[in-house]
Amino acid sequence: MSANGNNATPPSPAIAPGAEEIDTAAVARELGERWPGGVDPRIPALVPGFDAPFFQAGLAGYSDAAMRILARRHGAPFAVTEALLDRMLLGGGHGFDKADLALIAEALPVSAEDQPLAGQIIGSDPDEMAAAALKMIEQATRGDKQYRSMAYGDGPRPGGTDPRWVGARHEEGRLETCSTRSEGDCSTDGEEDCTPEALLVPENYDPRIVFHGRVVGERRPATEGTDGQVGNLPHAGGPVGKPPHAGLAFATIDVNLACPVKKIDRKQRGGHWLSEPDGAIELLKAVRAAVPERIVCTVKLRRGYDDTPEMARNFERIFNASYELGYAWATVHARTVEQKYLGPSRWTFLKDLCGRHRDKLVFGSGDVWDVHDIFKMMAYTGVTGVSVARGCIGNPWIFRQARRMIAGGAPVVPTLDEQRAVLMEHFRLSIALNGEQVGGRMMRKFAIKFARHHPDPEAVKVAMCCVSTLADWNAALAAHYPQPAGAKGG
Ligand SMILES: Cc1cc2nc3c(=O)[nH]c(=O)nc-3n(C[C@H](O)[C@H](O)[C@H](O)COP(=O)(O)O)c2cc1C
Repeated sequence: MSANGNNATPPSPAIAPGAEEIDTAAVARELGERWPGGVDPRIPALVPGFDAPFFQAGLAGYSDAAMRILARRHGAPFAVTEALLDRMLLGGGHGFDKADLALIAEALPVSAEDQPLAGQIIGSDPDEMAAAALKMIEQATRGDKQYRSMAYGDGPRPGGTDPRWVGARHEEGRLETCSTRSEGDCSTDGEEDCTPEALLVPENYDPRIVFHGRVVGERRPATEGTDGQVGNLPHAGGPVGKPPHAGLAFATIDVNLACPVKKIDRKQRGGHWLSEPDGAIELLKAVRAAVPERIVCTVKLRRGYDDTPEMARNFERIFNASYELGYAWATVHARTVEQKYLGPSRWTFLKDLCGRHRDKLVFGSGDVWDVHDIFKMMAYTGVTGVSVARGCIGNPWIFRQARRMIAGGAPVVPTLDEQRAVLMEHFRLSIALNGEQVGGRMMRKFAIKFARHHPDPEAVKVAMCCVSTLADWNAALAAHYPQPAGAKGG
């Protein structure tokens, strides 16, 4: 899935009267004095390694492993994948690639750095969502995979009570498929994965690891008997062998009930569910029941579908039900679904919400454009932590700055040398992950965002808007981010 054009809107200040008076340095320092890393200790207790009160948000079309690793190298303690469509995950093949940590590790041996990581899922059917979530968890294991019996109908759903999936659709020899794929809803990759065959016959899983048309490895077959544990993951059932990349696993599963993209909404996914609380709760229930208890589940919400009283009641029901069902926290984007990414985020909503639910862990999202916004949002609203989204595209330094402020220092802006080095690092990671063609294209949009740190951003934007090859990239960097005299190229 990808977001629409509205995401290019320039920064709008949030609705937060009085927030401009907040002394962000004092807030950050105070957090650092109260807790190690400035984070509520319940967060690292739930997700070891999540040691600061902010994370890199899911950003469709941006937050791939390359962007996430770069963010982590600059201090992001936790990151979320972009929203991954349940059916694409179940289809396997290219549809699963974005969540396939073994495949990512083949391309980026440094991907072990990309931990702890939340895998975000989006979809419209509780059973498909549950199976997809379990598949993401079980990918780290070898041997029998319980999601198969859930998704393909040859066994009971773990923890579930609804027998709808089991047998019914399978016996009919027909799974509801992405029949509308001609509308282009099934994300851009993996069209072939949307066939009924792909959904019904998991055994077509190709053991070869193919990357950009090249066979780069083979997924190893199952080996016999272990204690059923992989890393810190409990296995949902069946024999388990040594995973190819032991320890690489999703730390949490995040359910997206927030995406406002029209084609998603029309198909009852993402933010649509805020207008159908019963369905949303069914979905949350199914995912939580399927995912092993020790894996943290979380939910992404918007403040409502729109601002009518009915939608406010819906939000409250879904929000409360999430915690009752065992979801560890909600990340609340304080815009409505109708707003998409336009107009201000309403921090007053978050303030009221957190004021009424002081015991709950809540992350806030919306209008976090620079490091000061992280601490302003925390102080103004009372959220446990902050989800950094557009504010970190082309700006991984925001995380370093935030950590520095928590340690009592002042945020440092990146020098031109640092900018060049980080652009080069990002480009290399992106090419390794996505190939030169796709990686090159992706880097244009990042470079345009990086330009904001440059003394002549307009000239950089013009130069970067058409780079695609490594040669173009080197030429644009040499022109606008010159190496100091005597330094070696790279
Ligand atoms: C291009 C783009 C893609 C996004 N994709 C996702 C996504 O896949 N999952 C998600 O939870 N949120 C997604 N979001 C929403 C952001 O995580 C965040 O909630 C939103 O941008 C508000 O924060 P901001 O105003 O600080 O950017 C996306 C936002 C943008 C702009």
